[in-house]
Amino acid sequence: QTVGVIFGGRSGEHEVSLRSAATILSALDPEKYNPLPIGITRAGQWVTGPAASEMLSPTSSPDAVAALDTDAPALAPPAKVLTALADVLPQLDVAIPVLHGTYGEDGTIQGLFEMLGLPYVGCGVLASATGMDKIVMKQLFRQSGLPVVDFRWFARHEWVANAQRLTDSIVEELGFPLFVKPANLGSSVGITRVDDVSNFKSAVELAARYDRRIIVEKGYDVREIEVSVLGNDHPEASLPGEIISSAAFYDYADKYSPDSQSQLVIPARLTPDQTAAIRALAVRAFQALDGAGLARVDFFLLPQTGEIMVNEINTMPGFTRISMYPKLWEASGRSLPSILNQLIDLALA
Ligand code: ADP
Ligand code: DAL
Ligand code: MG
Repeated sequence: QTVGVIFGGRSGEHEVSLRSAATILSALDPEKYNPLPIGITRAGQWVTGPAASEMLSPTSSPDAVAALDTDAPALAPPAKVLTALADVLPQLDVAIPVLHGTYGEDGTIQGLFEMLGLPYVGCGVLASATGMDKIVMKQLFRQSGLPVVDFRWFARHEWVANAQRLTDSIVEELGFPLFVKPANLGSSVGITRVDDVSNFKSAVELAARYDRRIIVEKGYDVREIEVSVLGNDHPEASLPGEIISSAAFYDYADKYSPDSQSQLVIPARLTPDQTAAIRALAVRAFQALDGAGLARVDFFLLPQTGEIMVNEINTMPGFTRISMYPKLWEASGRSLPSILNQLIDLALA
């Protein structure tokens, strides 16, 4: 089968996607699959053949993710996107959209595949779109009875019109610390921890560079636990893992910098009851959004009270060499090649 592995993309997580795709391409069973790399440049241009391979060739150390590039270039003309796609489409049996963040993990490319009738790995339009948007995701989780942090949200235009009033009412309601985030992104891009009011404005302005909508969450002192989920109608949850961040929070550098001192503890040190509760919540979170294929569900465990909260779902979790999703399955006895076989089978089911 010819498997289109699509990577790069227009989001702030472009670089992370390149690393994820490199891992996936090297793990696809060559006896079973003919992988076809398809790159999407930051400007939204689709490229194949040598140009796609070139996008993947590491310029620095293979584990390093390049520093963040916040300024997205102008979009390529749409006609060129369609021409490139028309070239490769007839060859593909299935696609793996290894894209993180907007224009890839958010239902947009899933919608394109649905229209084309092309099977693809992972969540459909609904789960991708709702899982990407931290506001809608947390509202849906809350409605499904899943525990989430207290939060407020507003649109960029409301901030422009009423920054002071919004600041006052959010600080009064949620206190400090606060986490200010763009609604749609990942890899901690655009997120700031705010400990006092003097940094609130710059935090909102940073988040507003990435999205029209901003979410502000009550901040907690947390342990961070993650679970990998795999399946369609009967999803399975992996053993939980823990991230011990070495920064003020688990930010972009702490996630991907080669100098990061953050640690992954697999399996997480939890009681059997905590492990069972978290795994069950991971499956419920996946099902709350009608997940399919895969997702990683991330939790906060409050050490003082033992309270467990769902932080977020990632419908196309990182597959870099240091990423949790494949590591959690490996610890649960399943290699990356076998996980990829299963994901492709699930896509074609
Ligand atoms: P992303 O989708 O970019 O990964 P997250 O919502 O997971 O965004 O936030 C990134 C990191 O910020 C988390 O892994 C955690 O370290 C920290 N963080 C986010 N929200 C909170 C919060 N409400 N309380 C404490 N830490 C938080
Ligand atoms: N958004 C990144 C890729 C993750 O969740 O792993
Ligand atoms: Mg996260």
